[in-house]
Amino acid sequence: MTGAPLRDSLYLPSECEIITVTDLTPGEKLFRIRRADGLPLGHLPGQFVQVSLLGWGEAPISVASSPTRDGFFELGVRRAGTFTSAMHTLKAGDTLGIRGPFGRAFDLPRLRGQNLILISGGCGLAPMRSLIQYCEDRPSEFGSISILYGAKSPVDRLFKEELAAWDASARFACSMTVDNISGRDCFSGSVGLITALIPPLTFSPDTTIAAIVGPPAMYRAVIAELHKKGLPSDRIAVSLERQMRCGVGKCGHCSIEHLYCCQDGPVFWLNEIELLRGAL
Ligand SMILES: Cc1cc2nc3c(=O)[nH]c(=O)nc-3n(C[C@H](O)[C@H](O)[C@H](O)COP(=O)(O)OP(=O)(O)OC[C@H]3O[C@@H](n4cnc5c(N)ncnc54)[C@H](O)[C@@H]3O)c2cc1C
Ligand code: FES
Repeated sequence: MTGAPLRDSLYLPSECEIITVTDLTPGEKLFRIRRADGLPLGHLPGQFVQVSLLGWGEAPISVASSPTRDGFFELGVRRAGTFTSAMHTLKAGDTLGIRGPFGRAFDLPRLRGQNLILISGGCGLAPMRSLIQYCEDRPSEFGSISILYGAKSPVDRLFKEELAAWDASARFACSMTVDNISGRDCFSGSVGLITALIPPLTFSPDTTIAAIVGPPAMYRAVIAELHKKGLPSDRIAVSLERQMRCGVGKCGHCSIEHLYCCQDGPVFWLNEIELLRGAL
């Protein structure tokens, strides 16, 4: 399952080939990719890669698939600006450069044996999917698993078929919500903010860990609800995004006070960062 590093140099991208491109929503695509040398990427859930396209530059993107799924890795990419728009023009058979995997992953040794609450909003389901798939493939390693997901509208939900499969699976308890719904939408979840999904949960704070990935506005409100349920900050993992350049702790672009998001994160325990200015 572990891959050799893509290159000896942290700065040299290695060639990878796109196997398939799938539309997730009108603005998000899923790229299934393999290394040209055939080896696994060697990532853990929560890590990211630096994707490069000649003439367009580079962007950090989280790995959306679990390392337990062999032969490929996947990236879920939102069309945000110049680079990601160029990525959205790529097709199966095209090549791109990849550096990494980089960053601190979800703390699997600490998650093992615990009940998990996996909370994601919008595009945050892409990195969270890597962890969900990992739990799906190694069910005996974890306790109960609750998946909470919020999106703007039913059509904006990523991985709709997988969400339905997780919802139907006895392994997961799924709760979904959207901000808005129209009469034409087929959706069985609730309408409202993701924070409303937390009060109905029953769990023991001593044996539970929550992980959160989502847009910045979501974190404070979700954390406040988890604290109200008695979950302490050292049992809450958050994945943060910052503007990045090198991805390897050299340039300082991603700093959160003394920490570098690219190396000390992107996954942090909340108690490590909650007192740092501008962290949340
Ligand atoms: C660790 C990490 C993991 C990420 N994982 C994913 C992922 O799985 N899928 C995905 O679609 N995107 C992800 N991103 C965000 C992605 O890197 C940016 O959307 C991308 O760099 C934008 O490049 P661009 O040239 O298309 O847009 P630009 O023209 O550079 O910017 C377009 C808009 O996106 C915003 N933006 C630029 N960079 C970031 C950033 N790092 N974080 C948030 N907003 C940004 C800009 O402020 C601007 O509003 C991740 C970012 C980080 C730091
Ligand atoms: S991106 Fe350069 S130090 Fe983090």
